[in-house]
Amino acid sequence: MRVLQACAEIFPLLKTGGLADVAGALPPALRALGADVRVLLPGFLPILDGLQNAEEVAKLSPPAALAPGGARLLRGHLPACDVDAYVIDAPACYHRSGGPYADAQHQPYADNHLRFALLGWTAAALAEGLDAAWTPQVVHAHDWHAALAPAYLRAAAEASGRKPAGSIYTVHNLAYQGLFDARHFAELGLPAHYFDMHGVEFHGQVNFMKAGLYYADRITTVSPSYAREIQQPEQGCGLDGLLRSRAQDLSGILNGVDDAVWNPATDRLLAGRYDATGLEAKAGCKAALQRELGLQVAAASPIFCVVSRLTEQKGLHLVLQALPELIARGAQFALLGSGDTGLEAAFRAAAEASPDAVAVRLGYDEAFAHRLIAGSDVIMVPSRYEPCGLTQLYGLKYGTLPLVRRVGGLADTVADTRLETLDTDATGFVFDDFAATGLLQAADRALALYRRVGEWRQVQQRAMAQPCGWDVAAARYLALYRQVGG
Ligand code: ADP
Ligand code: GLC
Repeated sequence: MRVLQACAEIFPLLKTGGLADVAGALPPALRALGADVRVLLPGFLPILDGLQNAEEVAKLSPPAALAPGGARLLRGHLPACDVDAYVIDAPACYHRSGGPYADAQHQPYADNHLRFALLGWTAAALAEGLDAAWTPQVVHAHDWHAALAPAYLRAAAEASGRKPAGSIYTVHNLAYQGLFDARHFAELGLPAHYFDMHGVEFHGQVNFMKAGLYYADRITTVSPSYAREIQQPEQGCGLDGLLRSRAQDLSGILNGVDDAVWNPATDRLLAGRYDATGLEAKAGCKAALQRELGLQVAAASPIFCVVSRLTEQKGLHLVLQALPELIARGAQFALLGSGDTGLEAAFRAAAEASPDAVAVRLGYDEAFAHRLIAGSDVIMVPSRYEPCGLTQLYGLKYGTLPLVRRVGGLADTVADTRLETLDTDATGFVFDDFAATGLLQAADRALALYRRVGEWRQVQQRAMAQPCGWDVAAARYLALYRQVGG
């Protein structure tokens, strides 16, 4: 089965969030099951720099607006990601001084609709035979950036009477839809009748996400709970009606954890390595973390940590509200994050107020994320909504018990610790109400368990034994590819 994964970022070359982790881990997992997988990426500089043995496949001739300075398709290998790749070399589109989607002031680039339409268009062109040596049977597009691929594929099928490839569209976050002014529709080169409520039109605008949801053969999202939640108005972001109408084609497939990157038994970024049967080195990781952060070096104080984008989605104002109580009860707190300036300032102020017990590192730091998760006792993910969430999975694997809100993928991956679950399935702490009181009650249960050393260890070992490899997800994607890819 030849599968093309189309996405905008890939770990470790370019990452703004969990999408990159998925894009980096899924291809090798699929390959282990016998699939022939390649990825298609925009030619951002870190991706071009990572491409080895690059050869030009073709000059691209998309609708004129999509590549104003010209574009060509390169084929090569990304050793850092262990995958063969196609990269769209279009410097005018992708060489920018800020991030992949927005400039240094966090303003989205004005031509994002063109930059990412080019990604979807090129995916479809590959399915139509752009590279005579390799034609995908399935195009798997991720998030709004690649979401026009199914629309271009449908248009190609309508024009030729022959379906070039099956299509799968995966929603990683329904809130980021790729909405653009209607006047841009004409630039995309799609059939005029696609600008319709049964198509890419959404309240008078162009909606890339909707194109994926409408035209793909199958839709997936990254947890079963989120697959249900997005069919309801509260979390449907205006697309719940369309999602309900496609319920037969929609499924939730939980993300996994890339064991080559996140495994405390082999992680070279840690002060010491450990596993479920030998947890001694985790205490060393904790002491090293406390020293690194200037926290009081105290084994008896549980460290609650957060590793997160600082956005509304993540519910971190609940942590800010609960923080004084948490500290008063003897806990320490450490955060790694970046994003919203108000949240950054509030966390910085909290650290300045209690330097012995609260540490905050603002910015993006992959290596520190490993040290923080390994050295902490609890990882908090109190999200308003969470399609899957990866950091709670890292927490499980590193014996750092997750404290999460019961929503989306968090609900699907963490089992609450109560008297009746302690000996059976408890792996963390779960709360329902999106309020600081809910979070604090769960934190109280974490603090109580932490004092019961043997029981803490028991839950920790169960958490570490949870299956969260990519093999299960990869098998489910492969089953879908077989349904649509002929
Ligand atoms: P989302 O994709 O919504 O941000 P996920 O939990 O799926 O949430 O994935 C977040 C990924 O980004 C994880 O790999 C996490 O470790 C990483 N991450 C988030 N913030 C930072 C940061 N400030 N520094 C390093 N890694 C981070
Ligand atoms: C999104 C979601 C997150 C998910 C990630 C990878 O960024 O916010 O919950 O884990 O995609 O699928």
